[in-house]
Amino acid sequence: MPRITFIQPDGSRTVLEAGEDPTVMHVGVRHNVARLPADCGGQLACASCMVDVAPAWIECVGEPGPDEGDMIEDALGSRPVGRRLSCQIQVSEALDGLEVLVPERQG
Ligand code: FES
Repeated sequence: MPRITFIQPDGSRTVLEAGEDPTVMHVGVRHNVARLPADCGGQLACASCMVDVAPAWIECVGEPGPDEGDMIEDALGSRPVGRRLSCQIQVSEALDGLEVLVPERQG
């Protein structure tokens, strides 16, 4: 069962087991991770589920899809390296140990 670490802006870390959660967003929301409102419930319509993938994991997680990248750019005015919408990161065994940083503010 993949374990995912959510890191808050103050450096506090929460390690969570993904269980049956389909996406990284679902893992965080199910455990009430702070600063991750995910208002649209994963419909790619809110940009309030953003995370920064830890540098060591960026290649494994991959780049945002076109619509996701556009949404990030609309929210931030840029596309920071490693920034993803966590509802678009599918959980898999390959992501066991993944670390994501929750930004101070969402889009
Ligand atoms: S939860 Fe709304 S875009 Fe991810």
